[in-house]
Amino acid sequence: MKKTIFLLITFLLVGFAQEKKDKVSFSKDVMPVFSKKCLSCHNTEDESPSGLYLEDYNELMKGESKHGPVVQPKKGEESILIKKLRGTAEFGRQMPRGRKPLDDETIDMISRWIDQGAKKN
Ligand code: HEC
Repeated sequence: MKKTIFLLITFLLVGFAQEKKDKVSFSKDVMPVFSKKCLSCHNTEDESPSGLYLEDYNELMKGESKHGPVVQPKKGEESILIKKLRGTAEFGRQMPRGRKPLDDETIDMISRWIDQGAKKN
């Protein structure tokens, strides 16, 4: 009996740790990608292409760029942002434009952040 309880607790703890690891943070995980790969074009100083600014969470979520909201919370793969990164959007080019595409892992991570509700976390 003791052993069963011990095992149960261990599983629960491992489960928690896993969930924490999979949880994506906007500020720690997503924003650094934008800073490195997107801000040279999508910033407020230069007139940003398509009116999409990626300087912070509020700009990303504003939804006033040419094709409307680029993030649909809970719908990562349907969001324009992810389609542009995968090169499957019906308009324009794959992002980051003219550069090497992001690796699948990074795109999956951003997609997961959207699936988790696209929170300001
Ligand atoms: C070299 C400049 C450049 C870089 C770097 C760049 N973009 Fe873009 N982006 C553009 C241009 C130009 C357009 C408009 C034409 C098009 O859609 O292809 C655009 C359009 C977009 C759109 C569509 C917005 C709309 O409403 O139509 C999204 C989403 C986007 N970019 C995301 C990104 C992300 C995310 C990154 C970084 C991974 C990035 N871009 C990097 C130049 C750039």
